[in-house]
Amino acid sequence: MWLIKMEVITAVKGFKDILPEETGKWRFVEDAAREIFSRFGFKEIRLPVLEKTDLFKRGIGESTDIVEKEMYTFLDRGDEYLTLRPEATSSVIRAYLEHALYNAEPVSRLFTIGPMFRRERPQRGRFRQFHQIDVELLGLDDPRADAEVILMLMHFLSTVGLKNVSLELNSLGCSSCRPAFRKVILEFLSGKEDGLCDDCKRRLGSNPLRVFDCKAKECQEIIADAPRLSDFICSDCHTHFETVASTLTELDIPFKINARMVRGLDYYTKTTFEVTTEHLGSQNAVVGGGRYDRLVEELGGPDIPGIGFAVGFERLITLLQAENTRFLPQPDLFIASLGESAQRLAFLLCNQLRIKGLHVEQDFSARSLKSQMKRANRLNCAYTLILGDRELEEKKAEFRDMKTGAQQTLFLDNLEEQILKLIKER
Ligand code: HAM
Repeated sequence: MWLIKMEVITAVKGFKDILPEETGKWRFVEDAAREIFSRFGFKEIRLPVLEKTDLFKRGIGESTDIVEKEMYTFLDRGDEYLTLRPEATSSVIRAYLEHALYNAEPVSRLFTIGPMFRRERPQRGRFRQFHQIDVELLGLDDPRADAEVILMLMHFLSTVGLKNVSLELNSLGCSSCRPAFRKVILEFLSGKEDGLCDDCKRRLGSNPLRVFDCKAKECQEIIADAPRLSDFICSDCHTHFETVASTLTELDIPFKINARMVRGLDYYTKTTFEVTTEHLGSQNAVVGGGRYDRLVEELGGPDIPGIGFAVGFERLITLLQAENTRFLPQPDLFIASLGESAQRLAFLLCNQLRIKGLHVEQDFSARSLKSQMKRANRLNCAYTLILGDRELEEKKAEFRDMKTGAQQTLFLDNLEEQILKLIKER
């Protein structure tokens, strides 16, 4: 029993530790992402978590929930507003422009994995620090690029074992068809303003489309009968969307069209998509993404189109039902030792074998051999080496296969080589 003398300082609300028994699953997902994305030509980019606040105001949009009320923003020693990134797309584009990556590669395929920060109300599947696997494809407006990115996403999700999800698709039009729809929505909402929540009332002038994304019940009820954006998109956007849909069908990827999906960030144009599940309660989106053909220019760069998505890492992990133990590393060997000289030999041997590439566990305490064997079992070790004072006197050790129980005697001369040979041969 440990005696706790002082009050323990806990983590910040909505910020979660990922404990050793969970990290195996996280690494498994990350490895799959890296392997699959690189097959599709994507390269990893690693970015800072802190950016200038203006990047997100310009990128995500001033009248979004994220920018209005969810960002961790502070004045840095009185001279500059900085923000812990709430998403990765704006940061990827910032780096893409800052290093003029478009000069070297007319088509850039980038991905990044890391923590994001949004000050939302924590609940199941919603955290204030969460992680995203973010993918961005820049330099192509071809609808086949949309289908390719979605194909890669769905292949990744099924490879890691995600089942029973649905892909929802919509088109948000472009800067030539959106203004007409804005007018139609404003007309539809005129006279209904009093029934909207305070946020939507305020945003009506700047960004009426946000009403579609509002979670407030009163707004949902009003918007239920609203006209659909898909009925107003221009012929270019329509053809683009049709080609995305027919290419997905050719690629054998099932999807549903959800004409009400607008997404919570302002930069989207044309194709948008979400992967949803019924197993996460109200936080049903595991992935969100879409095309953003104006964003690079809006952030000060050339006229370069883009499309991408972000997987919510915590939500994906929750949905992977497989037991954590499947993802835990299996130690090759446990060295159980009893008596001072045996322990000294065990310590040296254990660390020499680790340097030679084996995963070896050992017990520093002088507990009974029985309890050391129990620990070897709990750690799921493949083999155990038993070194007691008696074995030492006879210049030998017992080597046991933990799965079959088969045991053999090894001589202390060349012990290291014998063990390496036995374990590497298995
Ligand atoms: P988003 O829809 O805001 O899109 O987030 C993508 C995913 O991140 C969500 O579907 C969800 O799984 C996860 N997520 C978001 N907020 C939280 C939270 N508070 N707690 C846990 N998970 C969360 C974006 O961020 C865009 N940047 C995606 C994108 C990339 N679009 C184009 N490229």
